[in-house]
Amino acid sequence: MTKETMTIYQAYPKSFKDTTGDGMGDIQGVIQSLDYLERLGIDMIWLNPFYPSPQYDNGYDISDYTAVDPRYGTLEDVDQLIQEADKRGIGIMLDMVLNHCSTYHDWFQKALAGDKYYQDFFYLKPAKPDGSLPTNWESKFGGPAWEPFGETDLYYLRLYDLHQADLNWHNPHVRQALYEVVRFWLDRGVKGLRFDVLNVIGKVDFVDSQEPGSAQEKALYTDTPIVHEWVQELKRETFGQYEGIVTVGEMSSTSVAEGIKYTAPQREELDMIFSFHHLKVDYQEGDKWTQMPFDFLELKRILDEWQVGMSREGGWNALFWNNHDQPRANSRFGDVVNYPYETATMLATAIHLMRGTPYVYQGEEIGMTNPDYSTIEAFQDIETLNNYQILLDKGVSESEALAIIQAKSRDNSRSPMQWSAGAHAGFTTGQPWLAVADNYSTINVEQALAEEDGIFAYYQNLIQLRKDYPVISQGSYRSLFLDHPSIMGYIREDENQQLLLLANFYGDPVQVDLSDFQVDLAWRKLIGNGPVEDLTDRLELEPYEVVAFIREK
Ligand code: NOJ
Repeated sequence: MTKETMTIYQAYPKSFKDTTGDGMGDIQGVIQSLDYLERLGIDMIWLNPFYPSPQYDNGYDISDYTAVDPRYGTLEDVDQLIQEADKRGIGIMLDMVLNHCSTYHDWFQKALAGDKYYQDFFYLKPAKPDGSLPTNWESKFGGPAWEPFGETDLYYLRLYDLHQADLNWHNPHVRQALYEVVRFWLDRGVKGLRFDVLNVIGKVDFVDSQEPGSAQEKALYTDTPIVHEWVQELKRETFGQYEGIVTVGEMSSTSVAEGIKYTAPQREELDMIFSFHHLKVDYQEGDKWTQMPFDFLELKRILDEWQVGMSREGGWNALFWNNHDQPRANSRFGDVVNYPYETATMLATAIHLMRGTPYVYQGEEIGMTNPDYSTIEAFQDIETLNNYQILLDKGVSESEALAIIQAKSRDNSRSPMQWSAGAHAGFTTGQPWLAVADNYSTINVEQALAEEDGIFAYYQNLIQLRKDYPVISQGSYRSLFLDHPSIMGYIREDENQQLLLLANFYGDPVQVDLSDFQVDLAWRKLIGNGPVEDLTDRLELEPYEVVAFIREK
């Protein structure tokens, strides 16, 4: 299994499959779904956190790093999952949330009780002489980034929710304690590690920013040089000592130059990173909590920048449209009402045939959409609820605020997995913790498996192509049509083959002028979701049609 040929599936355990009837998914649910995932053809399953947690941020607020929250199961269940997955040639990737822990964690509780050793696990700072907070930084979930530390006159840093206290990585005891956590899971047979917001672990200068929440502010604590030293140390002390571990770092607001440092093999850091710039192309002036049609030229520019930039110096991208923090890409970039199959397969092809390691987020492979919850009460996510309030406080009307939430909320991807047309989509026999999308009677796994030419079958095909064609797993990348208003195009190439991808990102048919292109060579269609069969110099693509051609050199 190599990063070049593999495809990773992301399961959000809370919403994947419930076997106990408590309305929350669990580890046994993942075990029961292994045959399904094997059939899809994926190589590894990344599971979001299932550790004990008060769930203020759905498990990203961990109160015990080396145990399993009873709501998800037991350590034995995890062992069983690792073994059962292994029998099917599938590795398990766990989520390592090492930037912060829950304020319910023993470390924080001991610190609160006055234990100096543990107080040094956190960033505790006094107010400024004028009584204002230690810095003017903003939490990524809204509001100030500092909270009063118990009854003291100190504040603790929390870049996320107030129940997520940032850990002081400068303290070697903190680093060693975290490395022990990583080794604990590796020793149990885990084959992959996903590191949550790893590039913000290196806070160095605690100074005010020019503007709270600005890019300039994020730069103060993001990708600082010491992060690379610590990532190298993390590797040496943990996964570097084990065979064949796949690692991915989640990088908040990073750059190509930093991405190369994190992933170029000679730097001994990580296999690949998630970067998010391509998923901000529908943010008005960088503000997520706004609505606007996505900027297609900007989308292509960013993908090109990362594809070309990373390959130039041996960097490696994680390829994805969806995850548990994003609205569903098909609802966002396509037309799930009129062209559900075309949208889903076009987006999948465009991303899977790029250079990097593709990730499939649960339900993507059957075309699950945003659930379009009709009231604010249906939403559960902390970031969503905070920002709904912030919108109202700014004077945005309730209906407009709800429309923004419907488009942008993280709950869009967290609605329960749709397994069947039965009650609660077959996700649970109880009351689901988050409502199932209304369209489950037509969009569900049972239905998808019954269709020979559906979205699921198409994903199977795409995943296999990466294994069969070195030009996909290892070829170079070059963009075409960067200025075209509706077509994405690129060329992949190695010593033996050339691959051409053309995708129509819009709902109108479009003619592609390929007269400058060598269409007379022996191209053959490799995969596609529409009528085009042959490469001609005036190719017509149907709405959301995608096609890839390949030729021997
Ligand atoms: C990124 C995770 O993907 C997100 O779900 C979480 O809220 C933050 N990190 C904080 O851990």
